[in-house]
Amino acid sequence: MTWWVLLVLVPLFPVSSSEHNGIRVMTFNIWQSGANVENGQQKIAKHILMINPDIVALQEVYANVTRNLTMMLGHPWVAVERNHSDYPDTAILTRHVVIPATNLSTSGGVGVKIMLRTGYTVGFWSLHLDYSSYGPYAANNKLVDRIEQIMAGENLGRGPQINEILNEMLLKKWLAAVDDVPIFVAGDFNGPSHLDWTERTKKIHGDWVVRWPATKELEEQGFVDTYREIYPNVVSDPGITWSTVNKLNPEWNYTIPEPQDRIDFLFYKGPVVPYQILTYSGCEKPQRIPFHHANDYPSDHFAVFADYTFI
Ligand SMILES: *[C@@H]1O[C@H](CO)[C@@H](O)[C@H](O)[C@H]1NC(C)=O
Ligand SMILES: *[C@@H]1O[C@H](CO)[C@@H](O)[C@H](O)[C@H]1NC(C)=O
Ligand SMILES: *[C@@H]1O[C@H](CO)[C@@H](O)[C@H](O)[C@H]1NC(C)=O
Ligand SMILES: *[C@@H]1O[C@H](CO)[C@@H](O)[C@H](O)[C@H]1NC(C)=O
Ligand SMILES: *[C@@H]1O[C@H](CO)[C@@H](O)[C@H](O)[C@H]1NC(C)=O
Repeated sequence: MTWWVLLVLVPLFPVSSSEHNGIRVMTFNIWQSGANVENGQQKIAKHILMINPDIVALQEVYANVTRNLTMMLGHPWVAVERNHSDYPDTAILTRHVVIPATNLSTSGGVGVKIMLRTGYTVGFWSLHLDYSSYGPYAANNKLVDRIEQIMAGENLGRGPQINEILNEMLLKKWLAAVDDVPIFVAGDFNGPSHLDWTERTKKIHGDWVVRWPATKELEEQGFVDTYREIYPNVVSDPGITWSTVNKLNPEWNYTIPEPQDRIDFLFYKGPVVPYQILTYSGCEKPQRIPFHHANDYPSDHFAVFADYTFI
């Protein structure tokens, strides 16, 4: 794959509504910045151009990688990164205009305001919450017999991180202006949704119903989980985003199945209405670990993208 090939790609989903009164947003965990597949960075850029979003939330962004990505994406793409020089981890890419001095960084993400070329302004966060003490592992562990044992993991990293972001937003009055300027919170939460782990589905979740705090806190602040709004039936539409390649559990030497779950989200609040959301892993079926090196799709997560209309 050479860079000029990218220039002649036709978007796979060309009917992005951003020409008119809409916006397409995407969340994309890029699996250690593409390091696990051949020509990973080129493939990341290629798949972003296929989807042709207005704004992308990235996770697992290594230092100096957005410079390569924006170069491959071409004019007018720009990047905003979390303010961490060794490992930004979260970044936001857009082909619109980043409003100067609106960027905010926290331990779990980065946020910025972006003005679309159509004149609409949005607030946008890319999140990557703590991966340690992964909740679904605890829930599927037969030695765990109290809900407190599962919640202990959430209260370590992910819970405090989501509160830090919400406090930052409140502090900066983003939420106070949300009736006029919508806010998107996109990212890899390293945890499922409380909307998915219900009485109806507990048989596939180690018999647990779990009020996962990150999604619950966002809901309590009035944010809507776009996927579950469009697909309310969690049984027929699980919306799995983890994983494209991780089918067997590494902590058990790949001898038992890896729990498959929906852990990458597009939340929104404010004057937009979603009308389409899709999970995405390219056109060729990704080969599972350890057969993944030649995959055309460079990530271990499905990407998610959605279209909204401004109202
Ligand atoms: C990123 O690039 C800068 C400037 O080229 C360089 O000084 C820095 O060491 C790089 N950081 C990493 C982690 O590679
Ligand atoms: C950027 O791309 C160049 C060319 O492919 C590559 O050599 C370099 O390692 C990349 N930079 C980073 C930080 O990955
Ligand atoms: C905002 O971006 C500027 C320029 O990239 C950077 O110097 C600053 O540290 C960022 N601030 C935060 C809070 O991330
Ligand atoms: C990043 O920005 C946050 C929020 O403004 C600040 O608290 C933190 O010290 C900054 N970190 C670095 C490494 O600049
Ligand atoms: C995984 O394999 C290693 C090395 O063979 C072994 O020491 C370890 O106990 C195994 N772990 C599990 C969970 O089976």
